[in-house]
Amino acid sequence: MQVARARPEDLAAVASRITATFATAAQALAHVDGSVDPTRVLQSLGGAHVWVARRGGEIVGHLTASLVPRGPRSEAWISPDAWSCDDVDDLAALYASAAPAWLAEGVRDHVVWSFDLPAWTEAWGELGFARELYRGARSAPFAPGEAPPDYRLRRARWDPVVAARLSALVDEAEESAPVFRPREADPDDGSAEAPGHWYVAESAGRVVAQCLAIAYPRTLGIPPGAVHLSALAVTPPHRRHGVARSLVAYTARRERVAVVDATWRSANRPAHRFWVGAGFAPVAVGLRRQILV
Ligand SMILES: CC(C)(COP(=O)(O)OP(=O)(O)OC[C@H]1O[C@@H](n2cnc3c(N)ncnc32)[C@H](O)[C@@H]1OP(=O)(O)O)[C@@H](O)C(=O)NCCC(=O)NCCS
Repeated sequence: MQVARARPEDLAAVASRITATFATAAQALAHVDGSVDPTRVLQSLGGAHVWVARRGGEIVGHLTASLVPRGPRSEAWISPDAWSCDDVDDLAALYASAAPAWLAEGVRDHVVWSFDLPAWTEAWGELGFARELYRGARSAPFAPGEAPPDYRLRRARWDPVVAARLSALVDEAEESAPVFRPREADPDDGSAEAPGHWYVAESAGRVVAQCLAIAYPRTLGIPPGAVHLSALAVTPPHRRHGVARSLVAYTARRERVAVVDATWRSANRPAHRFWVGAGFAPVAVGLRRQILV
């Protein structure tokens, strides 16, 4: 097996591997849109540094990454369409060829998004990548979303100060998750403009919980029209009363969509239990490797 930079004439074979990845994931997992437009994929690969593994002249894997600046740290971001392989040895050889260029640019955080299929996530595990994030989704119908007694649910006008106070609860939970690493500042936190539709739960006239519903741009693998739920938080005295469960159901019903999804850190156990208990089936996982120097 040999690994080399892709030549322009290799990209059609890479695009068909990506098409196969999404078709396999859509067969195995609910909430994955398996339709991939090969022309769009080819365009997106055009300028990227793509590595390919070849055996007997046939392409048996590929790897590329986007280098994303995140404050003082940068990440090599490997999305589900940015890699494919038939076995771990091929993936190891691809990673060994591609990663030195990322390291040379000072990028020591390598993050892979993989559909949640054991053979795929385990392959990255062999290379030292550990599960950090889940993306889970659930489809309609949603329960009526009735608030527990003494709570009121509604879609509210965006209040950046209240939203920032509630989003800080997510940071707090994640820092003690135990991840011991602050969340990357989310551009939505406290922004003057509403990043989406803002749903709240009120008790005695005060906002005690929030859920943001953000429309997805057309993205590979995400079912058309799906809405992303973000920044879900309930203030501590109001937890474990069913507020989050009813707010999520209320939000999903008011958004009138077939599918909603959310991401959460696997180490944030209350969040993990909450989303899985609320019927959000894992679709994809985020796996991270940090290179220590
Ligand atoms: C995760 C979070 C949003 C859940 O909010 P919540 O309002 O407590 O959620 P619910 O009350 O609907 O459900 C939580 C648990 O209480 C239980 N519960 C619900 N109503 C209950 C009641 N009346 N009596 C006892 N338990 C109850 C639920 O069954 C659930 O049990 P679980 O621990 O097995 O999952 C909340 O813990 C939080 O704000 N965390 C900090 C921010 C955060 O991490 N957000 C997630 C970002 S992805």
